[in-house]
Amino acid sequence: MWDIKDVYLVTKGTPMPIRLAAGMHRIGTETAFAVLARARELEAQGRSIVHMQIGEPDFDTPEHIIQAAIEALQQGWTHYGPAQGDPELREAIASYIVSTRQAPYTANQVIVTPGGKPIMFFAMLALLQPGDEAIYPDPGFPIYGSMIEYTGATAVPIQLREANEFRVDVDELRTLVTPRTRLLILNSPGNPCGNVLTRSDIEAIAEIALEHDLVVLADEIYAELLYEGEHVSIASLPGMAERTILLDGFSKTFAMTGWRMGYGLVPEELVGPMTTLMVNSASCTNVAAQRAGIAALTGPWEPVHAFLEAFRRRRQLLVDGLNEIPGVTCVMPHGAFYAFPNVSLFGMKSDELAGKLLDEFGVAAVSGTSFGAAGEGYIRLSYATSDDNIREALTRIASASAAWS
Ligand SMILES: Cc1ncc(COP(=O)(O)O)c(C=O)c1O
Repeated sequence: MWDIKDVYLVTKGTPMPIRLAAGMHRIGTETAFAVLARARELEAQGRSIVHMQIGEPDFDTPEHIIQAAIEALQQGWTHYGPAQGDPELREAIASYIVSTRQAPYTANQVIVTPGGKPIMFFAMLALLQPGDEAIYPDPGFPIYGSMIEYTGATAVPIQLREANEFRVDVDELRTLVTPRTRLLILNSPGNPCGNVLTRSDIEAIAEIALEHDLVVLADEIYAELLYEGEHVSIASLPGMAERTILLDGFSKTFAMTGWRMGYGLVPEELVGPMTTLMVNSASCTNVAAQRAGIAALTGPWEPVHAFLEAFRRRRQLLVDGLNEIPGVTCVMPHGAFYAFPNVSLFGMKSDELAGKLLDEFGVAAVSGTSFGAAGEGYIRLSYATSDDNIREALTRIASASAAWS
């Protein structure tokens, strides 16, 4: 942590009496955005860059969803709406979750937010304080650790290992739980590793949560992007919906990242506090976008199935290609749209390697360490991009490998 006095702003030599709150020294960020900025800078200099850093589908939002938003705007859905979310959308979300996850939530337990991210933010603001501990996956979505630290609670990483296909090691998890542990974060299918927890993993984790009275934040934003096996929601297990905040949203499933549409299904006691956080921040989620959300959940799902099939084909293309490159090995991800190849044989720090890949070979990738210390030795490549881009990225990574071997 920096010293508070370090952040006094200095304008023309005059110290300004502005200091940032202590929490701002603990908060982190998402490096993928910084990689994009650097890639754009290089492109502006005329360099050709293959974008493999992207965390969003490259497809456009399906037309019927766009039409529903246009009609909503024309019909006057342009005013504030309920902070908790459009009641009709909350019904649609509850029935979608009950049917796909077998998790017993009602529409009254749904909170609609501008993207899924605010559910993390609100959950941690509502539950954590100094003295508490929260366990989160490492490598994992960088906002988990960032937000835990922001609240002043202690962030406790549970390491995801390649040898275990990046699944949570349940025995290790047991050793990390203390009387101070309040929250356990799960993400399956996972970013950045594409890992998927099995039913027996989930059952064992639920047992730990029940025994130690933990709240679980189950980030299921990639639930529809599953290539084999089953998606088991921890909220479907007996006694777990009562202690699980299930996070999901429209960004990844329906190619709607820019719409900012997400939601949480939360234990009844958390509906009031988390809705109050909505009132205190965004007031409500974009009202016309919420009408489009109803169309997304209740309309034709063929576009979503087509996205999945495209991602499946690209996954194979990328992972097979990576495994043919000397120095690179990559386990087959089972969900989401990321590959997390092991590049440790090149003997460079992941940060340095990702920097060289971008600057010297024009491949934008994210260093594994952007997802936690356990990401050292890895990089994240997104295959939410065209087959041609994937082939080009493979060619360039092969050139890098030849140069570095
Ligand atoms: C694991 C995970 N959870 C949640 C989100 C948040 O998505 P959004 O806020 O767009 O719904 C992302 C986005 O990259 C993610 O990778």
